Amino acid sequence: MLEQLVQQLDELGQRADDAVTTAGDEDALRKLEIRFLGKKGAVTAAMKAMGKLAPGDRPVAGKKANEVRNLITTAIDSRRSSLEADRIQRLCVDPHFDATLPTPRRGVGALHPVTLITQHIEDVFRAMGFHLLDYPEVETEFFNFDGLNIPASHPARDMQDTFWLSNGLLLRTHTSPGQVRAMREYDAPFRAIFPGKVYRFEEVDASHEHTFHQVEGLMIERDISVANLIDSMKILLSEILEREATIRLRPGYFPFVEPGFELDIQCQVCGGKGCAVCKRSGWVELLPCGLVHPNVLRHGGLDPDEWSGWAFGLGLSRLVMMKYQIEDIRHLLSGDLRFISQFRQG
Ligand code: DAH
Repeated sequence: MLEQLVQQLDELGQRADDAVTTAGDEDALRKLEIRFLGKKGAVTAAMKAMGKLAPGDRPVAGKKANEVRNLITTAIDSRRSSLEADRIQRLCVDPHFDATLPTPRRGVGALHPVTLITQHIEDVFRAMGFHLLDYPEVETEFFNFDGLNIPASHPARDMQDTFWLSNGLLLRTHTSPGQVRAMREYDAPFRAIFPGKVYRFEEVDASHEHTFHQVEGLMIERDISVANLIDSMKILLSEILEREATIRLRPGYFPFVEPGFELDIQCQVCGGKGCAVCKRSGWVELLPCGLVHPNVLRHGGLDPDEWSGWAFGLGLSRLVMMKYQIEDIRHLLSGDLRFISQFRQG
């Protein structure tokens, strides 16, 4: 039984070797590969037959089967390289072949500027020890509003025109719902950012879109102060913009922070002179931020007497427009490849 199988394997190897060395092209070679080494191939069939051998004989047969398999693989590889070498050789003597002709250019894709800036921001924050989190675009009313201290009767709900879904859920109007989600998910203290798309039922113009991008940042710690907040926002903006930017801070009202601020940056499209992007004011609202409201901490399961935090919601579309001096937000979702291709790197 054993001798028979070993002999059969030897013959198989010999037969395969003969066939491979005379295979005329890549197609024929591929067929042989399947015939001998494939799942239903001859070597596999021989290996299956090993099951019928006495247990003591199996290692000998197994070793043989491996040898034969290796032999066939090597034969195929070497035939393949020599076929390829022949092909190139033929091309070189072909009078119609001109090695100096330019090859057709392959189109190289480019990343969208919002993707570029998101990746940059993620790098900046990762280096500062922030988690990178991802939360749903289809949200519940609780996480988008109530959990953020915006009850149904609160006028702040009018500040955000919402796309409601027929099942009672909504398209998140900001990335802030991630705040309560993150507090519930991670033990304090922690720091995290959550970038993503947000949606508002907006009239579209040069500076408003129904779909845009934000990055939310949240830091939960003991004893966080307004000084911490302002300092962190300054570091963050200079890292992100990679240049000194002129900023100003105004009080801002958001139900989920107390106190809240609007951080404005001098318009980098017009240099502060006034243009469509900054609505002729010379300033662009860029970074609303504040200290996390005690009610929000409570919704996140944290005791406001023990824990505090700062949060910001950075609008990426505006930032991209500032950074690349794009005058109309509608370019961003236009899908126009001529626009995107300007951001090709390298
Ligand atoms: N979620 C707010 C919006 O989209 C922006 C915001 C304001 C986020 C203040 C914050 C914050 O984290 O502290 O309008």
